[in-house]
Amino acid sequence: MSAIHLDPALPPDELRARLHAGALVVLSPRPSTTALCAWAREMIAQAFDPLDPLTAQHHLPVEGFVEVCAPLKPRFIHHARTRSLLREMMADLGLDPTTTYLDVPRLRMVTSDGYLTSGVGYAHHPHRDTWYSAPMAQLNWWLPLWEMDEASAVAFHPRHWDRPLANDSGGFDYYEWNAVGRAQAAKHVTSDTRKQPRPLEAAELQPELRPVVPPGGVVLFSGAQLHSTVPNTTGRTRFSIDVRTVDLADLVAGRGAPNVDSSPRGTSLRDFRRMSDDAPMPDEVVARYDTGAPPGGVLVYTPAEEAQRVSA
Ligand SMILES: [Fe+2]
Repeated sequence: MSAIHLDPALPPDELRARLHAGALVVLSPRPSTTALCAWAREMIAQAFDPLDPLTAQHHLPVEGFVEVCAPLKPRFIHHARTRSLLREMMADLGLDPTTTYLDVPRLRMVTSDGYLTSGVGYAHHPHRDTWYSAPMAQLNWWLPLWEMDEASAVAFHPRHWDRPLANDSGGFDYYEWNAVGRAQAAKHVTSDTRKQPRPLEAAELQPELRPVVPPGGVVLFSGAQLHSTVPNTTGRTRFSIDVRTVDLADLVAGRGAPNVDSSPRGTSLRDFRRMSDDAPMPDEVVARYDTGAPPGGVLVYTPAEEAQRVSA
C-alpha cells in the first residue's frame, strides 16, 4: 500500500500502475457514475415496491428478501441499459475501449445486523479476488448506491498488501466453482457451505481503511488487495455495484499486482469482454494465464443451460 489518490489526474497507464503497486483511488461522483447508480436504484426500488429497499429487511422474512434479490441481480447484470451506462461511465473515466475488458457488473446487498449473511447477501470474509482466480491485473470499481458510512463499508487491510497470508486458494478451482458454487447462491439462505478460499491463519487486519464515499463515488482498487465486508450495523441494507476490468496491454506485458499468496486453478479471464464491441478475450491471452479445466468444469458461468461443459 503506497497511497490513497483522490480524483487523480493521471494518464490511464500510470493510474493502473499505481493501483498494481497497491494504491487505492477514490473518485468523486460525476454525471456518468450517478447515472449508473440512479438506474440501479430504480431497478432495486421496483423490485422491492412498495417497501423501501433500505429497510425492507425489517418487514420481510429472510426467504422473502432472497426471493426479491435472487432475480433482481441477474436482471440488473444483463440489462442492456446497465451495459450501456457502464460503457459510458468507463469511457468518461478515460479508459481505452479497445484495450479495456469488462466483467459483468455485480449488484450486492449487505443487510444489517446479520439478517442475511449467506448466498445472495454473502458478507465477504477477508480475501483477495485473486484467491478466486482473478488475474493479478484485475482492477475493481466499487460504487455504493445510497449514502453509506464506516459501518457499511468495504474494509481494506493494507498490512497484507505485500505480506503473504496463509490461505487455501490452492484448493480452489474456478471451473469447479462455475459448475457448482455460483449457481447455488440463492439456495444459501441461513448458512453458506460453498467452498471458498479462506485465510488459514489470523490476518493482521489492523490498521484497516474504510473509504466512505457518496452515491456515485467510486473506490478503485487492485483485485489483489486484501479486503472484507464490514459487518453492517446501520439498521439499513447497503446496496452497491462492483465492476472488474483488465487492460489487454497489462495482460500481454505480464503487468499486474505482485502475487504474494494466491494459488487457485483456472482463470476468470474468459468472463471479460472488450468494452468497444463485447469481443471475447483472445484465446492466446487466456492460455497464458490458464491452468486447464478438470472433468466437469465449466469455463464460463452462465445462469442456465448454455453452460459450456468441459467434457470428461
Ligand atoms: Fe472481493
